[in-house]
Amino acid sequence: VGPDPLRGRVCVVTGATSGIGLETARGLAAQGATVVLGARDAQRGEEAQADIHATTGSGDLHVALGDFARLRDVRTFAEGVLGRFPRVHVLVNNAGVLMGRRVVTEDGLELTFQVNYLSHVLLTRLLLGRLGASAPSRIVNVASEASRRGALNLDDLQLEQGWTSFRAYTRSKLANIAFTYELARRLEGTGVTVNAAHPGLVSTGWTRHAAPVMRAVFTLAKPFVLSASKGADTIVWLAGSPDVEGRTGGYYHKRGAIRSNPAAYDEAAQRRLWDLSERLAARSGPLPRVPDAVRASQA
Ligand SMILES: NC(=O)c1ccc[n+]([C@@H]2O[C@H](COP(=O)([O-])OP(=O)(O)OC[C@H]3O[C@@H](n4cnc5c(N)ncnc54)[C@H](OP(=O)(O)O)[C@@H]3O)[C@@H](O)[C@H]2O)c1
Repeated sequence: VGPDPLRGRVCVVTGATSGIGLETARGLAAQGATVVLGARDAQRGEEAQADIHATTGSGDLHVALGDFARLRDVRTFAEGVLGRFPRVHVLVNNAGVLMGRRVVTEDGLELTFQVNYLSHVLLTRLLLGRLGASAPSRIVNVASEASRRGALNLDDLQLEQGWTSFRAYTRSKLANIAFTYELARRLEGTGVTVNAAHPGLVSTGWTRHAAPVMRAVFTLAKPFVLSASKGADTIVWLAGSPDVEGRTGGYYHKRGAIRSNPAAYDEAAQRRLWDLSERLAARSGPLPRVPDAVRASQA
């Protein structure tokens, strides 16, 4: 591996229009990667592209569009990436929301669950064949230490009972980690690694849809929180550093492995979450099987 391990590598970042995703994309571009900027709005995507170009000089930035509150948009997003890039080496599943009220999407799913978790499961599945064909390749799931306060709630994934903003958010981030562990096991030996990261408490726009009380708490905490580029550091490191070459199934903060909420290690729960997620994501169409799709791409 040369001094610039990301040079020439194709990296897809969801939610690259603001906060941690924007700074992750900038960090990857600064290291010479080809970066695909996930955006739900074309103008915001172009603004992110112009902003990153201005600070890094990179001309290798591409916008991919999709609203992750719609499963069919995730499919269009994936088709766009697969159509344009014969190789995909890194997928950063970052887009996320903290909602102030329970919203049900047109797919009939609770929005926090869908955007933060299920749409990324679907995207990962759709890109896995290409990631496999491009191995060694890496997936980074942006989780949160908020997951420590969450429960998977497998009997009520849509939180029809007792929805709160906090419960929905912490559950989605715990699901990100449980999915990371299960996927890592299924991808063993394929050259595709998957890890989760906690960026730290970061000053971004993520509380903008949250209830006023939650926004007030974050306004008070502002002097103590990290900049978005500091928050992106561990994610960029997991995406490209030789330090973690071949490492998989971990959860990281400040460039170090940490333990997660014990609930995420429960393998029976991971499998059940996998099966339930598969069924929900398949509402939008067939899903490539794991690891069969990856192995087939490597045959
Ligand atoms: N901030 C923190 O302290 C913190 C701590 C731990 C973990 N995290 C995690 O870090 C990740 C990024 O959050 P952030 O703090 O950077 O928040 P942010 O500034 O609000 O950025 C969120 C990104 O996700 C995108 N997004 C939201 N809804 C979407 C949808 N329906 N479809 C497609 N994209 C959508 C946003 O797009 P728009 O620009 O169009 O809104 C934006 O690019 C999240 O997964 C969050 O859970 C954050």
